[in-house]
Amino acid sequence: MAMTCRLVSSNLIILSLSLLVLPCLGQGQGSFCPFEAIYQFGDSISDTGNIDFINHQGKCSKDPFGETYFQHPVGRCSDGLLMVDYFAQALRLPFLFPYQNKSADTSHGVDFAVAGSTALDLSFFKERNVTWPNSEYNRPISMQLNWFQEHLNNSVCKTLTPSECATKLSKALFLMGEIGFNDFNWPFNSGTKIEGLATYIPPVVQAISGAVKEVIRQGAVRIVVSGLFPMGCVPFYHRNATYVTKEPKDEFQCLKPYNDLASNYNKNLQEALSLLGKEFPNVVILYADYYNAFMSLLRRAPSLGEFPI
Ligand SMILES: *[C@@H]1O[C@H](CO)[C@@H](O)[C@H](O)[C@H]1NC(C)=O
Ligand SMILES: *[C@@H]1O[C@H](CO)[C@@H](O)[C@H](O)[C@H]1NC(C)=O
Ligand SMILES: *[C@@H]1O[C@H](CO)[C@@H](O)[C@H](O)[C@H]1NC(C)=O
Ligand SMILES: *[C@@H]1O[C@H](CO)[C@@H](O)[C@H](O)[C@H]1NC(C)=O
Repeated sequence: MAMTCRLVSSNLIILSLSLLVLPCLGQGQGSFCPFEAIYQFGDSISDTGNIDFINHQGKCSKDPFGETYFQHPVGRCSDGLLMVDYFAQALRLPFLFPYQNKSADTSHGVDFAVAGSTALDLSFFKERNVTWPNSEYNRPISMQLNWFQEHLNNSVCKTLTPSECATKLSKALFLMGEIGFNDFNWPFNSGTKIEGLATYIPPVVQAISGAVKEVIRQGAVRIVVSGLFPMGCVPFYHRNATYVTKEPKDEFQCLKPYNDLASNYNKNLQEALSLLGKEFPNVVILYADYYNAFMSLLRRAPSLGEFPI
């Protein structure tokens, strides 16, 4: 039974779970589009514990991460739940196990995201002399896609023909990202100036768009692709260097040029997604607007219980 899902309000704040109230054409009102599995690709924003298997001494494997919800660190770089956990809850699926947990039950999907990951391969950065804080832990999207293929071969689609495999994957939700933020974070950290960072936009967008094509090739028909956060509001970008501190700031003390960089990136990503939408008209590709979701939280911070800025 083929089902077409459509987003109620496109392009708005997709952090909210309203995303998941996807009306299914041909279904009764109020019915959910049933997803049988979730496949997540990304970085620390959605890593449910791969990093803990890769580096058990890492900072996400220590207190205070996990203390409130799980009562102990579980490898999530968050004290509470991640967005992918809320997706799972809303779809009445179990939390995703990290792919690196080889004994885990992956019948409802699996998480390939790894904290610190980039969209581009390490070689790209090496050519540009970008020094890496933890190169051994970087698992770029190309590697996550390889894991996905391995997972299909050895588990989900082991006994299926390629077309049966595609049918199975058509009932899954694919979350591509957030990924790409570290492609800017690490170079920034190693001293790359904003003009240099701007040149990374096309290759990063291309890597993500290529990854979306790859999961479509395998059978994915419902994919959410995330944009970047307003990086000029992220504390990490407020480093004490003259080329940063002299940058103009907005009313929230966010660095304007870095927010413009993120906006520009997001615009490019959306254009790439719209081309993919034309190339694959039967695939639902949604853009998750993290930028405006983040700004909305910042703007409403006083009424949300945080101190005004
Ligand atoms: C790994 O998977 C097993 C089997 O489902 C589960 O009991 C265990 O809690 C998992 N460990 C982690 C760290 O995800
Ligand atoms: C990287 O460093 C090497 C050795 O110092 C230098 O020859 C090369 O030009 C640098 N490349 C870039 C893109 O800065
Ligand atoms: C998956 O299986 C295909 C077909 O047998 C093979 O070409 C490919 O190399 C395998 N990939 C992985 C990552 O195991
Ligand atoms: C920022 O750097 C300047 C020059 O190195 C130094 O004098 C100043 O104390 C630093 N400020 C902070 C807040 O670290």
